[in-house]
Amino acid sequence: MKLDRIMPSVYIKTYGCQMNERDSEQVAAMFLAGGYRLTDSDAQADVVLINTCSVREKAELKALGKMGMLCSQAEEKPWAVFGLMGCMVQSRARELFEEIPRLDVVTGTHCYHRVFSICDALLKQRMANLPPAPLREGAHISQVEDLPDAHTRIRDHLPARSSCSAFVSIMQGCEMHCSYCIVPFTRGGERSRPATDIMDEVKRLVDTGVKEVTLLGQIVNRYGRDEAIVDGRGAFVRLLEALHDIEGLERMRFTSPHPIGFHDDLVRAFSYLPKLCSHIHFPMQSGSDRILKLMRRPYRQEKYMELCAAMRSARPDLAITTDIIVGFPGETQEDYLLTKAAVKKVEFDNAFIFQYSPRRGTPAAEMPGQICLREKEARNHDLLETVNRIAIARNNALVGTRQTILVEGPSKTNPNRLQGRTSQNKPVIIEKGDAQIGTLVPVTICECTGFTLYGAV
Ligand code: 5AD
Ligand code: SF4
Repeated sequence: MKLDRIMPSVYIKTYGCQMNERDSEQVAAMFLAGGYRLTDSDAQADVVLINTCSVREKAELKALGKMGMLCSQAEEKPWAVFGLMGCMVQSRARELFEEIPRLDVVTGTHCYHRVFSICDALLKQRMANLPPAPLREGAHISQVEDLPDAHTRIRDHLPARSSCSAFVSIMQGCEMHCSYCIVPFTRGGERSRPATDIMDEVKRLVDTGVKEVTLLGQIVNRYGRDEAIVDGRGAFVRLLEALHDIEGLERMRFTSPHPIGFHDDLVRAFSYLPKLCSHIHFPMQSGSDRILKLMRRPYRQEKYMELCAAMRSARPDLAITTDIIVGFPGETQEDYLLTKAAVKKVEFDNAFIFQYSPRRGTPAAEMPGQICLREKEARNHDLLETVNRIAIARNNALVGTRQTILVEGPSKTNPNRLQGRTSQNKPVIIEKGDAQIGTLVPVTICECTGFTLYGAV
């Protein structure tokens, strides 16, 4: 292997949520700006980064396994820099360095803006054959720096990302302290970006061909919650309205909202903002009030149901998806059945089911009544069956309907076809010659194979 001294390469693998993807993009943008090229080849890369997710243990283990494997390639390229970044690694730097001796850099979410300079300095040092200086960067807490046009610069370089749809971070952090969740420890308190910055970023994206933006935030509807209510509308709804006015922007989505702070103004927004897509990912977590309380989720089942009903009356074709945790400490069979009943009642379009995984330092990890793996798996399996049955029925019901899809690119399974998504966020496959990538086209859904829809233009 040879090192390209003029244009070294960086490989970034991301695990976890869209927030993590967005963070990776920002880091990648800095490498691009610093003269690096992005590569898909972990074996060839001079800087190898993994952005991990700590929310669930499985993702964490997967990321660590991958890093161990990548580090084993180091013999071929002794200059290479290996870094782990992400919410999980923050508190565990020392342990990780012991576990994976070849690891150079560990950074938490609060110092992403430094990843580039640290890795670059290290690589240059090695290139120059200098004795390696202190390599290890522990977790520092500092402010997140927004890179205003990172997204624009990087979009063309990331192969897996559709160029007509973009994520835009509008707020970061969370102060809810759900008892199972590690996010508040890793991403800090809530901070919202100024609306003018967001508007500028979206306008720039639209200028480069973006048609759809997904606004990201840990609790996205708490955006700007310190700001005044104007004519009955909070800062988040006012932001949606302002974005709605941007010419050329066709679709808006947001993720993830929380029942807390989900006021009437946001419910109403679904009735008068046509660019707001007919889909909401609305984490329920549990159908049992007792468990919600133990989870420190400050709403009850009734409130969650009321919100779903209100949104559906504002937007009758609204697709609702959710997150559910099974096997939370103390969850009885009765509690679990309440969750299952809630799934049937809401008729979710889809649900991500998570087996509770204890995260170190969170209150739930210390709670009595931890559920054994076998039971968690059984509940997961049983619930998945119900979720899938409902999801497939809802997809089947779309056969024969007309939908508008945003054509995003080639189908992942068949390059001779194109894939787009409906307003409800359902993937639809069409024939290649039928439409241009990056356009909105009306289709008739002619077939459904469970989770994939086929459309005719
Ligand atoms: N165990 C299992 N699932 C979790 N989630 C968050 N923390 C945990 C945990 N410790 C799930 C929640 C959240 C989603 C992103 O991950 O359902 O909504
Ligand atoms: Fe975690 Fe709860 Fe905040 Fe979501 S709302 S990030 S689950 S603490």
